[in-house]
This record gives sequence, C-alpha cells and structure tokens, in this order.
Amino acid sequence: MTLADYVNEKPTIVTERLRLRPMNPEDIPSLMEWMPDKSVYTYWGKGPSKAEKDPSLMFEKPERPAKSFHLGIEETSSGKVIGDIWVYLIENDRMASVAVRLAPSCQGRGYGTEALGAMTGFCFEHTELKRLAAEVDVRNIPSVRMLEKCGYTREGLVRQGKMVSTWCDYYIYGILSSDPLPGTEVRDGSEGAAEGRI
Ligand SMILES: CC(C)(COP(=O)(O)OP(=O)(O)OC[C@H]1O[C@@H](n2cnc3c(N)ncnc32)[C@H](O)[C@@H]1OP(=O)(O)O)[C@@H](O)C(=O)NCCC(=O)NCCS
Repeated sequence: MTLADYVNEKPTIVTERLRLRPMNPEDIPSLMEWMPDKSVYTYWGKGPSKAEKDPSLMFEKPERPAKSFHLGIEETSSGKVIGDIWVYLIENDRMASVAVRLAPSCQGRGYGTEALGAMTGFCFEHTELKRLAAEVDVRNIPSVRMLEKCGYTREGLVRQGKMVSTWCDYYIYGILSSDPLPGTEVRDGSEGAAEGRI
C-alpha cells in the first residue's frame, strides 16, 4: 500500500485498548467533553480553534481528500473518542510530522504511547514514509516520554524558536523506518512492525 491508497479512504488501526479511526458526527458529544478544554493546549503551540471549541463545526464540510491522516482515538471499552492523532506536513511521500492529544481524564494511562506506537508502525509498514518527526516543548514531559517510549530519537534542541504559533525552547524528535520500534524486530522487511492492525 502507499499513501495514495489512503487519500479517499482512511485506515482503522486497532490496538489492545484503542481504535484509531476516522471521526464522524456521532462523535461530537465525546469530542465536546475534552476538545475545548484549554489545558489540552498548554504545550500545543496554539489555543483551541473555533472548530475545537465547537467540534460540531468539524463536520460541516466533508473532509478534503488528502494523503495526511487525522484519526480519532476511540477507547474501545467506552466507545468514546478520547483523543486524536495526525500524520501531516507530508513531504515527497517520504517525511511527515506526527501529533497526538488526549482528553485530560485519559492522560497518563499509556494511551498516548499505545496510539503513537501503532500509528508509527502503521506508517512504516503500510506506506512509503521513511521518516516521522515531532516538535515538542521542552516542558512537555509526558510528550517527551511518550515519543521516547515509541522509539523516537531526540535529534536537537531549538532555543526560543517558533513551535506552531508559540515561541519556546523545543526538541525535535524523529524516527526512521530503519530504526527499531520498541518491542519489534528490525523492520523494512516483510516482518510486521505495526502494533496495531488494520
Ligand atoms: C502528550 C500526551 C499525548 C501523552 O499521552 P499519555 O497517554 O498521557 O502518556 P502515557 O500515559 O503514554 O505516558 C507516557 C509517559 O509520560 C509519563 N507521564 C504521563 N503523564 C505525565 C505527567 N502528568 N507528568 C509526568 N509524566 C507523565 C508517563 O508516566 C509515561 O512515562 P513512563 O512510562 O516513563 O512512566 C498527553 O499527555 C496529551 O494529550 N497532552 C496534551 C496534548 C499535547 O501536549 N500533545 C503533545 C504535543 S507534541
């Protein structure tokens, strides 16, 4: 499969406790519970947008076909969308950025690591992406830990740079498809790397 195969139809990635899947208007009540919460945006680089303050606006227009992924993170046990995850800023089908966020009530339970690990494995196993990267405010300890637990390497520190719309010290983390994913054999062969499955 390639990124082009997912332009119109996004994947569903299943993990032990989560389903990463496209969102729909039925998810509005769960999104309302956390998406407008300002604490989610402390180290996000910007505050909530109009649509993040009122998630019903997210579904007013159909999603435009794109190679990027924006999937909801559904907690299987409750059926609620408790977060979302992106693979975006794709360059030459080779390199992309990742971002993940969770409802405050669902943070600190390993869900972020589970979601990002599965998304990372999916990208390297099912698309031609070779590099995934993230920028993270140095004060965002949970995100730093999550990235490192998912096998991302700290590649550098940007001092007082612009992270999204905020000026701060931030790290750049990256992972290559040839890097080992925690708990997996060396990839880039036919051996599966995704913690999740589609
Ligand atoms: C960043 C985020 C997605 C991490 O997801 P999470 O499910 O909370 O993280 P996990 O439970 O998988 O934990 C990852 C690590 O961070 C640690 N951690 C989690 N919350 C923490 C906290 N409040 N303080 C210190 N460490 C914390 C965990 O203990 C774990 O490390 P460990 O295994 O060494 O103990 C989540 O905290 C979040 O949504 N934050 C707000 C949005 C955001 O900033 N996103 C990242 C933008 S780059």
